Amino acid sequence: MDAGLVSTQMELSAALRRVASLAESALDSLLPPEEGAEARLATAMRYATLGGGKRMRAFLVMEGAALFSVAEACAARVAASIEMLHAYSLVHDDLPAMDDDDLRRGKPSTHKAFDEATAILAGDALQARAFEVLAEPDTHSDPLARCELVAALAAAAGARGMAGGQMIDMLAEGRTLDGPAVTRLQALKTGRLIQFSAEAGAILGRAPPMQRHLLAAYGRDLGAAFQIADDLLDAEGSPEEMGKRTGKDQAAGKATMVAVLGVARARQQADMLARQAAGHLDGFDERAALLRALASFVVARRT
Ligand code: IPE
Ligand code: IPE
Ligand code: MG
Ligand code: MG
Ligand code: MG
Repeated sequence: MDAGLVSTQMELSAALRRVASLAESALDSLLPPEEGAEARLATAMRYATLGGGKRMRAFLVMEGAALFSVAEACAARVAASIEMLHAYSLVHDDLPAMDDDDLRRGKPSTHKAFDEATAILAGDALQARAFEVLAEPDTHSDPLARCELVAALAAAAGARGMAGGQMIDMLAEGRTLDGPAVTRLQALKTGRLIQFSAEAGAILGRAPPMQRHLLAAYGRDLGAAFQIADDLLDAEGSPEEMGKRTGKDQAAGKATMVAVLGVARARQQADMLARQAAGHLDGFDERAALLRALASFVVARRT
């Protein structure tokens, strides 16, 4: 690796750590307090959301927002919102009725640490809180911008987004899907939330449509690369590094790009998508350097 590349990757690691700590404090202040007869629900929401995760979606929001000089406090609320929505998707994804995973972010999954009913409700309430945060005036002074954020996240999370993709993922267990079908499954279950994260800064910054469009395209390709990398890590990674069980996709007969293409070609596909993702940001000069570097990071990661 050349020296320039090494220094950009080191800068990226530092920036990811900085965003992780910023997201952690935003989440801590935005999640409900553990009070009242319903305190157990808030405890489970906090358990599922705080103290772990790469915070890549938060990073996308913060870096995207910085391109348009959005106030960091506003962007941090959107970053916390997408991390809540994402944490909800993980809590439900791990339930016995779905992937039945007992380990997440290096600790027992929420339904293991609490119980299934609490995990379902914690996911529900995390999702609701994510939208509530976007709708609150502190997120943006312009109600139209807040409305646009709410509508974009709803589209990304719903029947034609993450939830729809999860439906296809469940229906595909034990069946063979072809490449285009797996691509669509992954674009919905993972890509749409990552695309939202990449686009959110442009919404906050009232960016021209072309710039928002380029960030969306970056998010789509990054999301596709990211999920193939997740599939590769399930096949080849270690549970210690990943903080979740590995080797489960093949056992469950999951429709993944590794199942369709095999490990070597799936890796090539992920690398190609990562390069393509970075290419969409060519016009953004040096301020997008870390977003471009993130594309290389998602396919090289071990966690
Ligand atoms: C895991 O996402 C779920 C997928 C969409 C593959 P991440 O790998 O971003 O999970 P955390 O947030 O870092 O734990
Ligand atoms: C999950 O995909 C995508 C979500 C919408 C949560 P996976 O089922 O592959 O995610 P992991 O491997 O459990 O994190
Ligand atoms: Mg799953
Ligand atoms: Mg899973
Ligand atoms: Mg996986």
